[in-house]
Amino acid sequence: MPRLARRAARKNKLSQVRFAVTLRGPEMRKVNIGLVGCGTVGSGVVNGLAHNGALMGSRLGVRLSLGGVAVRNPRKARPTRLAKGLVTTDWEALVRDPKIDVVVELMGGTTTARRVVTEALKLGKPVITANKALISAHGESIFRLVEKNGGNLYYEASVAGGIPIIKSLREGLSGNRIRRLYGILNGTCNYILTQMEAVGMEFAAALEDAQRMGYAEAEPSLDVDGFDAQHKTGILASLAHGFWVKPGQIFVEGIRHITPLDIQFARRLGYCIKLLGIVKKRGGKVQIAVHPALVPETHVLANVSGVYNAILVRGDIVGDTLHYGQGAGADATASAVLSDLADAALDLKHGSLGRVPPFVPHEQDGAVLPMDRAVSPFYLRLSVIDRPGTLAKIAAILGGAKIGICSVIQPEGHVGESVPLIMMLHDAPDAAMRQALKKIARLSAVKAKPTMIRVETFE
Ligand code: NDP
Ligand code: HSE
Repeated sequence: MPRLARRAARKNKLSQVRFAVTLRGPEMRKVNIGLVGCGTVGSGVVNGLAHNGALMGSRLGVRLSLGGVAVRNPRKARPTRLAKGLVTTDWEALVRDPKIDVVVELMGGTTTARRVVTEALKLGKPVITANKALISAHGESIFRLVEKNGGNLYYEASVAGGIPIIKSLREGLSGNRIRRLYGILNGTCNYILTQMEAVGMEFAAALEDAQRMGYAEAEPSLDVDGFDAQHKTGILASLAHGFWVKPGQIFVEGIRHITPLDIQFARRLGYCIKLLGIVKKRGGKVQIAVHPALVPETHVLANVSGVYNAILVRGDIVGDTLHYGQGAGADATASAVLSDLADAALDLKHGSLGRVPPFVPHEQDGAVLPMDRAVSPFYLRLSVIDRPGTLAKIAAILGGAKIGICSVIQPEGHVGESVPLIMMLHDAPDAAMRQALKKIARLSAVKAKPTMIRVETFE
């Protein structure tokens, strides 16, 4: 066992002895928390501890105590009150402080946050993080460090806010081979799409709302361009299939190109539009992608609105399971951090090392199916000049690519030179569809960039 791990094990053993002693006495063992970052989520955690810390203490037999809070600007107004002596701008001193038992990283980003996490792990301290961007970019080396040092890294809050999906995959479903996983994983995008559909809100206004409510990332393009969902889908795919999925292996497309017109036509056809994270086992490979999809309005995921997230997991033994809850925001995310704090406190209490494996090691196939070979039906919206022969030319290109047309809508009574032409297409490989689309876009009768959205059938 490495030196630090030995030291951590010794320390944990001592803690257990101390804990056994304190059980007999009036004093409950205390776990001191070092919080790095006290913005939306950090403030939620401080408030959550103030509300339910005592309850958690009685449930766990361990008192959770805020030992220090590192922020960038100590004078900033916050939605929580922090005792003056607790606040520092020196995260390094806080992490190194021997009185701090657990480090909670809620600052975001992948540079300083990586240092916070690795320094704490090297010191043998358990670390909790909500930082999916960090895990996605550096998870492999961070998990190696956890293994080497015999520590624990908890990351429940990194995926789907308050939904305990990491625990469900790692523990609750560990007896299953995961066949399918479909997730609405970005609260900001789901909020925007819902607002566009329900009240006809403009994209930009809906995004501003999501930012004001604390759902969006500091850099909101992470949300609307699909990268945040890509990070989360990668984490879930790794857990489900037991190998580390690199972000570059995950096809990603965001929601910027989705217009109110697409939402209206999708409804007319019996669908709604959702940004989905998709993980499908196909033969020996796994298809992993993030993109907007037409979801049949009768499907359970079609009814997941606003900031809510949901993950449908299909296991070979359990069948379909649905995990639902708020996917972003201070309180929902704080709930996940508090649950990690409970686990960390119990692991310290019992001296458990390496109890939180990064993956469920029940499959090691390790191969990702390229998106080109993914097969699905498609929705296509074109803006075309209404003249004879246009539809025939488009149909010829699709026919040449062996893509069948399922239905066509060209609404009457449109004013202006061009009219919308909506087509529903049968199953086709992604590469064939994208090539056909390039040819269609070059036709003189096609006026604007075509919009293509994949249709998810959940088979
Ligand atoms: P915020 O931007 O609201 O908060 C970031 C905090 O980190 C601030 O308190 C900031 O200090 C502090 N900070 C930044 N740099 C430093 C530094 N060098 N030293 C000390 N403190 C620093 O982010 P969120 O709370 O929204 O997000 C935090 C993490 O949680 C991110 O990884 C995010 O992806 C993740 N997450 C967010 C969710 C959400 O709904 N918002 C949901 C799930 C996960 P100061 O306040 O002084 O500026
Ligand atoms: N920006 C993220 C979202 C926060 O909107 O889902 C939760 O991870």
